[in-house]
This record gives sequence, C-alpha cells and structure tokens, in this order.
Amino acid sequence: SIHGPLKVMVSGAPASGKGTQCEMIVRKFGLVHISTGDLLRAEVAAGTEIGNKAKEYMNTGCLVPDEIVTAMVTARLSMEDVKERGWLLDGYPRTSAQAQSLEAIGVKPDVYIVLEVPDEILIDRCVSRRLDPLTGKIYHLKSSPPETEEINARLITRPDDTAEKVKSRLEIYKRNAEAALSAYMRVLKKIDGNCPKEVVFEEICSLLNQLNDKKVKTAKAG
Ligand code: AP5
Repeated sequence: SIHGPLKVMVSGAPASGKGTQCEMIVRKFGLVHISTGDLLRAEVAAGTEIGNKAKEYMNTGCLVPDEIVTAMVTARLSMEDVKERGWLLDGYPRTSAQAQSLEAIGVKPDVYIVLEVPDEILIDRCVSRRLDPLTGKIYHLKSSPPETEEINARLITRPDDTAEKVKSRLEIYKRNAEAALSAYMRVLKKIDGNCPKEVVFEEICSLLNQLNDKKVKTAKAG
C-alpha cells in the first residue's frame, strides 16, 4: 500500500552495484537492509546448517535453492523493526518462485529498482572487488580503494569473483531476471548503473524522496 514506511527492491546483475547503493540508501533513509547474499555469507562464515547447505552453490556461482533463501527472508521480514523502518530487499526475489512466495504473503514493493550496467564492466567490477570482513564495506581496487593501509591489509576477495564464475553468475541472472521482473512491471524503475556511485545514488534519492512525498500527501488526505 501507499501508506507506511518505504518498501524498496533493488535488483541487477552481479556487481551492478546493489550492495554499494543499499549501503548508501540505508544511511540516508534508515530502511532495514535485507541482502540475501550478505545473510548467506554470514551463515557460511558461522558454519550453520543453512551455511553448509548454501556454500557449494554460492562458491560455484549457482543460485541457492528457493526454499532456503525464502525462509531466511520471510523470517527477517516478520521482525518488528521492519514495520517501523520499512525495508530494502537486495538480491531477492531473483526467481519467479521467489516473487510468488512474497506475493503469497502480501509483500509488495513501492518501487522495483533495476541497476543497468553493460556486461564487460561487470566482469571488471567483480574481479577488482574486495570486502572488509570487519565492517562489511565493499571496495573496488580502482574506483573505491580502501581509505587506510590498515583496512587494505585485511581485505578479502569473494570466492565467486573469478572472471569465469562471474560469467556463469551473469548467465544465471539473465535466465531468471525477466521472470522476477515481470511481477513488478507497475513499479519498475530502470536506473543507469554505469556512472559514478554518487551519481547513481542521486537518482535513487530523488526517486525515493518522491515516493515519500506521495506517502505523506496520501496520509494527510486520508
Ligand atoms: P549476492 O551477494 O547478492 O551477489 P550478486 O547478485 O552476484 O551481486 P554482487 O554482490 O556480486 O554485486 P552487487 O550488485 O551488490 O555489487 P557491489 O555493490 O558489490 O549473492 C551471492 C550468492 O548468494 C549468489 O550467487 C547465490 O549463490 C546466493 N544468493 C543470493 N541471493 C539469492 C537468491 N535470492 N536466491 C538464490 N540464491 C541467492 O559492487 C561490485 C563492485 O563494483 C565493487 O567493487 C564496487 O566497489 C564497484 N562499484 C559499485 N558501484 C560502482 C559504480 N557506480 N562505479 C564503479 N564501481 C562501482
């Protein structure tokens, strides 16, 4: 519905900038960030049952089975803070089955953002990506290098970020993207993700501000 806090989905190919933009959106709009990639990596790192099941799929660049990912997301969406702060779904839903699961429990976004970036750029972004295991912050060796030597020394590379695995992740994304997207045609917003991250963020901000204004007006009228 148009009432209540913002409900946002961010989608796009591997390395299109979902995580980078979501980090900035959360800082400005205070939404609850639900990233299936981050949640799964945390399960793997903690050696949980879910982590052990998901690990092989992730390391080879395949999708983790729908029921595992969906259970994780619905559990998080049912927590109290989500009602107050709104939510930002990052990398979910990624298949039509996942979109249907959300539909079944009445979860609908105000906007479905797709970050568009050409294939050849995506490969470079993955290969040069590094993560700070301490803060979870995302870096790129050229476009967003670490701020200090200390951070630089602890950066890690994701096991699925080799050129070969990125190509297969991209193929899997393309195979599923259309079906996931078709559920959200009415609220679809394509954004050019091939510009500096601050420029991409400005466009997302103006979109989310517009949506917030609309909510305020509707609330006053009602
Ligand atoms: P996930 O972590 O979601 O991986 P992904 O979709 O492949 O996306 P990435 O995290 O690779 O990229 P991103 O778009 O967040 O880009 P980022 O901001 O980091 O999922 C990992 C795995 O988990 C999946 O393969 C699957 O196995 C499993 N999984 C997750 N969700 C699932 C689901 N729903 N169903 C089933 N399985 C699921 O940026 C990338 C790089 O580019 C960085 O170095 C960054 O600094 C740089 N960069 C970002 N923006 C810019 C810019 N504007 N200009 C220049 N550089 C930029």
